[in-house]
Amino acid sequence: MTDHSQLEADLMARIAAAADVAALEAVRVAALGKQGEISALLKTLGGMSPDERKVAGPAINGLRDRIAAALAERRQALEGLEMEARLATESLDLSLPGPPRRRGVVHPTMQVMEEMISIFAEMGFSLAEGPDIEDDFHNFTALNFPPKHPAREMHDTFWFPPGPDGEKKLLRTHTSPVQVRVMQRTNAPPPAAWISTSQEPPIRVIVPGRTYRQDSDATHTPMFHQMEGLVIDRNIHMGHLKWTLDQFITRFFEIDTIVTRFRPHHFPFTEPSAEMDVQCEVSAGEVKIGQGTDWSEIVGCGMVHPNVLRNCGLDPDEWQGFAFGFGVDRLGRLKYGMPDLRDMFSADTRWLAHYGFSAFATPNPASGLS
Ligand code: PHE
Repeated sequence: MTDHSQLEADLMARIAAAADVAALEAVRVAALGKQGEISALLKTLGGMSPDERKVAGPAINGLRDRIAAALAERRQALEGLEMEARLATESLDLSLPGPPRRRGVVHPTMQVMEEMISIFAEMGFSLAEGPDIEDDFHNFTALNFPPKHPAREMHDTFWFPPGPDGEKKLLRTHTSPVQVRVMQRTNAPPPAAWISTSQEPPIRVIVPGRTYRQDSDATHTPMFHQMEGLVIDRNIHMGHLKWTLDQFITRFFEIDTIVTRFRPHHFPFTEPSAEMDVQCEVSAGEVKIGQGTDWSEIVGCGMVHPNVLRNCGLDPDEWQGFAFGFGVDRLGRLKYGMPDLRDMFSADTRWLAHYGFSAFATPNPASGLS
């Protein structure tokens, strides 16, 4: 039997002398690794007689356990020392700025819609919505479009292929079909006796939404946004319409001296019909509102045609009203001065960073819109 006390003392000394975790690891490999000195001793047990093994086995295993324990203890001590050294030398500068974060912005069209909604909400309008995919009835027929009206033709409207019933759906060309949906709802029977969805006029709604036409140049895009308005009550006349739009425009552009003009126009669903222009100055691709000698058209409007009221189940002798349809993107372009309407839909993040709005600045007329 060999005495292992020299080996043990030697290893213990090296463990104590290991200055860091890496040095200690080297000692562990030399002792307990595959080629290690203690591992070699353990292998000799196989070649011993049972009597020899009885004595040598516990001795070698005991040596291995004591060395392993000493290694673990030293390792813990060294790790503690290393942590203390790091804590003593390293420091955290809490005043350093964090990594820059890219913040999203609100698209100008959405900002303009929010501004419009906040102004009309103050005037007592509520919100209504309708589907982007419409049928011929709501988009045209109910709105008093004659059967051969050019707006139904391919060059304006995006039509879907006919369905199994032969009916061709379309992408709505304006938000006016929602007028029909709102008026029909006011006199539809409630779906069940205990639910009351039917309500008599007065109606005062605005309808923000997407609209589609086959059109594209610097001032037209195939998809654009409109904001419809509809007011139905007794004794409503053109004066109410003009006042409402003038009030809106003054507040929207935040210019008291803004000048508007109403030009006679034609829409099948209003009579009389008009377009309202705002005074502006266009020079070097820039638009200035409230000055100059140019006019920019911003809204189509008129008194709801008696046929439309009838088509929606309202008696024109009892109810009258007005409607208007703003081009939202156009309005934004005039207020915020974008040179090309198509950029609104190009999803160019540089353009958005320039023209976008903070999500935290919710427009409201009291604190300022923009
Ligand atoms: N729907 C019309 C258009 O898209 C606008 C409009 C709405 C005109 C309501 C009159 C009344 O051009």
